[in-house]
Amino acid sequence: MGLSIAILAAGKGTRMRSTRPKVLHTISGKPMIWHILKAATALSDDVTLVVGHGAPLVQEAVGEFQVHILHQDLQRYPGTGGALRGIEPRYDRLLILNGDMPLVEAEDIAPFAQVEGDIVLGVIELEDPRGYGRVVIADGQVERIVEERDASPKERSIKLVNAGVYCIRRELLREFLPRLSNDNAQGEYYLTDIIQLARAAGYSITPLFLPADHFYGVNSKADLARAEEIMQDRIKRRWMEAGVILRLPKTIYIEVEVTFEGECEVESGCVLKGKSHIVSSQIKANSIIEDATLIHSSVGPLARIRPGSRIEKSQIGNFVEVKKSRLDGVKAGHLSYLGDATIASGTNIGAGTITCNYDGKKKYPTTIGKNVFVGSGTKFIAPVTVADDVIIAAGTTLTRDLPRGVLAIARPPLKLVEGFYYKFFGKRDDA
Ligand code: UD1
Ligand code: CA
Repeated sequence: MGLSIAILAAGKGTRMRSTRPKVLHTISGKPMIWHILKAATALSDDVTLVVGHGAPLVQEAVGEFQVHILHQDLQRYPGTGGALRGIEPRYDRLLILNGDMPLVEAEDIAPFAQVEGDIVLGVIELEDPRGYGRVVIADGQVERIVEERDASPKERSIKLVNAGVYCIRRELLREFLPRLSNDNAQGEYYLTDIIQLARAAGYSITPLFLPADHFYGVNSKADLARAEEIMQDRIKRRWMEAGVILRLPKTIYIEVEVTFEGECEVESGCVLKGKSHIVSSQIKANSIIEDATLIHSSVGPLARIRPGSRIEKSQIGNFVEVKKSRLDGVKAGHLSYLGDATIASGTNIGAGTITCNYDGKKKYPTTIGKNVFVGSGTKFIAPVTVADDVIIAAGTTLTRDLPRGVLAIARPPLKLVEGFYYKFFGKRDDA
């Protein structure tokens, strides 16, 4: 039996103190809404996303997922209780998720499809329940949810809180949504009031207890940082379980779409971003890899590999920056910039080599063949192509293509001016 899902993402997120819609703040490289949509679309083929504040930006960010978009009328019906007006779920039961829970995974919400009940309410127990709606339970039955601002001191001491996940039968939603009122501290329609309306009408409300760190709600920048820590621990634990060596994992940042294969090692202080794919490689301390592929290579310490790079069977050393380049069997040990370059096997890039790939208007390619010895401090003025088996002398500025087998040397003539030092600085006392 199918389950429809609705994700509430129309709120302003005032407590974030940001012009960006709350659900677009990122966790491990992806907007919060991306994480929850990933979980929801894995579970259901009928997912509705409710948008309002910053709707065009939110819609743009969900491009890769198949969802229905519902626009909330925030003027007439503000609040979580106004969000679902006009929803048409395909299935008999609708699972409603707050959009600001980026740590939820498909396995966390799957149990809602199994539990019987007119309404199944996700409940978590918190030592510090501040900020959440409290769940009032009497005689084993959920009575109602009271928001913090509307709660009495006694109700505030309740540690069972509303996770922000509900599974509701479609007819109940139709019956009770129009009956919500906005008579509360915020003057908003609260979805949570459905509980007491349904209870009064004799329907069953079943609590489903959930793990707190998977249903963490992000309302502020401090919450965002906390959610990031939990997500990072999760991502790194999974890769270690899969066989990746992480040295001092607390110091390493790995985004959610990074993948590893074979036996890999990542040393302390590294940042791995985007869709980087690492195969049987070692990334030494304090290196940054973004949207790049490393295969049987070693990179760093202190290297920066930028988007569109593919580095295979190569060794990249410290202070080397590689951008949108293909390196296959290459050594670049020290202090270089290799941008828009294609470099073939057996080639050695000397310290201080720069591809001058940009003329202020356009970017140009540099192509270097096999077994080329590039002397230190070489400048490739792109576009330029070097054939196999070439030696380029240190300090050369290369302004033309090179044929196979040559030595290329371009150095301005050296001029000596006798005694200039003393004329300029005067005689030294100790001289
Ligand atoms: C809500 C619950 C609270 C629960 C907590 C769990 C209500 C009234 N309260 O409080 O009981 O403990 O979540 O995290 O529901 N949204 C809309 N349209 C709106 C307002 C909000 O779509 O008009 C969306 C937001 O974008 C957000 C979600 O609903 O993703 C929750 O809204 P938020 O304001 O964060 O609710 P809380 O105060 O956290
Ligand atoms: Ca919230």
